Amino acid sequence: MCGIIGYVGRKPALPILIDGLRRLEYRGYDSTGVALVQPSEVTVLKAAGRLSVLEGTLDYDAHPQTHGIGHTRWATHGAPTNVNAHPHADSSGKFAIIHNGIIENNRTLRTYLEQKGVIFTSETDTEVLVQLIAQLYEGDLEQAVRLALREVSGTYGMAVVCADEPDLIIAARKGSPLIVGVGQGEHILASDAAAILAHTTQVVYIGDNEIARITPDSLRITTLDAVPVAKETEEVEWTLDQIELAGYEHFMLKEIYEQPEALENCLRGRIDLKEGVIHLGGLADCARELTQAKRIIITACGTAWHAGLVGEYLFEELLRVPTETEYASEFRYRNPIIDEGTVVIAVSQSGETADTQAAIREAKQRGALVIGVVNVVGATIPRETDAGVYLHVGPEIGVASTKAFTGQVAVLALISCFLGRRKHLSPSAAMQFMKALSAIPDQIRTTLGHADTAEKVAREYASRENWLYLGRGYNYPVALEGALKLKEISYIHAEGLPAAEMKHGPLALITDGMPVVCIATTGSQYDKILSNISEVRARGGSVIAIATEGDKDIQDLADHVLYVPDTLEPLQPLLTVIPLQLIAYHAAVIRGCNVDKPRNLAKSVTVE
Ligand code: AGP
Repeated sequence: MCGIIGYVGRKPALPILIDGLRRLEYRGYDSTGVALVQPSEVTVLKAAGRLSVLEGTLDYDAHPQTHGIGHTRWATHGAPTNVNAHPHADSSGKFAIIHNGIIENNRTLRTYLEQKGVIFTSETDTEVLVQLIAQLYEGDLEQAVRLALREVSGTYGMAVVCADEPDLIIAARKGSPLIVGVGQGEHILASDAAAILAHTTQVVYIGDNEIARITPDSLRITTLDAVPVAKETEEVEWTLDQIELAGYEHFMLKEIYEQPEALENCLRGRIDLKEGVIHLGGLADCARELTQAKRIIITACGTAWHAGLVGEYLFEELLRVPTETEYASEFRYRNPIIDEGTVVIAVSQSGETADTQAAIREAKQRGALVIGVVNVVGATIPRETDAGVYLHVGPEIGVASTKAFTGQVAVLALISCFLGRRKHLSPSAAMQFMKALSAIPDQIRTTLGHADTAEKVAREYASRENWLYLGRGYNYPVALEGALKLKEISYIHAEGLPAAEMKHGPLALITDGMPVVCIATTGSQYDKILSNISEVRARGGSVIAIATEGDKDIQDLADHVLYVPDTLEPLQPLLTVIPLQLIAYHAAVIRGCNVDKPRNLAKSVTVE
């Protein structure tokens, strides 16, 4: 996902822009650039590759300008080259633009502009927008942007500067987040708070179809139709050190080890063991409607989908309500059946995933009650759902989701107990569930204590190019999640399966020494998973078992055993996922992969 930064104030802009881009690197990118503006001149500096490539070309003393914009680009139209990197200037060089999103009618607009004599230099849809703005400019940049956006279809989070109005940034948003940090005599525009926190925690969120006029001392927001929009300044709940590495080698490792504290923050104030109830303020207004739900659809992508699948098992067990988990990208196009009493729950760490956004719009369009389970406060999805529950696990910087997964599962567990107590869940069963959930953060601490075994396993098998992950019941989604973790950061091919499916084909894959991770914690299907382990061993596979502390028998069946404390079966995913996160992390490090910024991936996929 591209990153946007802008600065108007009284300090040199270039170091602020570069530092902001550095804090946005985690979003994934393949080129970077800045545009500095001063009276009658816009200077564009950009380069393909990592931010360090651009930094290597900069002479800070030569660029004292106090206003500018910057961008990290994740290529959608046009290869990641210097020419295609943002910012893009118009033919006169008087305007420069940065843009997240896709201008869907860019071909039509390009043809129109070429017929007017415009010469394009890049393959990007973004250049079409800046050339159009230049064509429409008659001395008022805001008005030119407004007119141009009326011709555009697609999505954008954009910012544009002009040499004729040098102390001004015009920003606009439709489908790609933008926020403005409010400082003393300065404003910082960014795609997310990570790039702003070094300057201020006071922010204003720009909404869809809104335009922001930003100068050092003023911030005015209007609709595309020039209607003023009153905005409150809000406090960002995250701190800068939460965004920093804090001594860890990678954000992913930091976030794996943050999980005990992250889960404590997630659960804080929500489990009342004295009264035996769950408090979820965000659902209070629709609790009755939720309790009467006849069907629940959970929709998400990637890791969030795996958490949603755990939620499916939880809701069906604790609520006895038919529940299905749908990939958002499929849900949005399959003409979903939404009828009276259908509740849709969107799960998303970023709250910006394009497919998940589209899925909730489709669901709302069809009359469903839509709930959000999201981490980033103020993101698009929580602003569009009818109600929701924030994860409160803190910023997740590593592209590979870890604490977001356990946070999502914990919130879905809270919701299942919150609603279960309004349905069939007995006070004693609910109390048992709440006590077990309350114990999870400390149990994760215990599990993290076995990290050396995970590293040993990774070292032994990091060179193998094909792994299998097997799980049953609540641990089947964990098998999927473990496989995804390994794939996305170590580039090893891995597949997660319901363990019983092995004999329906995948067993043919087993070759000598093939690593097969089997989640074999004690529970209703323990004996069955032991049989699956035997099937794998009989064919030469190497079994890496995730087992319950105290289970010694499994040591005779598996090549390696990683232990987790015992807990209720529905809560086991919160523990069994931890060793899998660590195995994936260490395998990626051993293979020399870019753990926090894996190739081809972005932290939040805000395009289709
Ligand atoms: C998981 O490690 C990946 N980062 C990816 O699958 C992610 O979970 C997915 O893109 C959904 O993102 P979201 O939770 O921000 O919606």
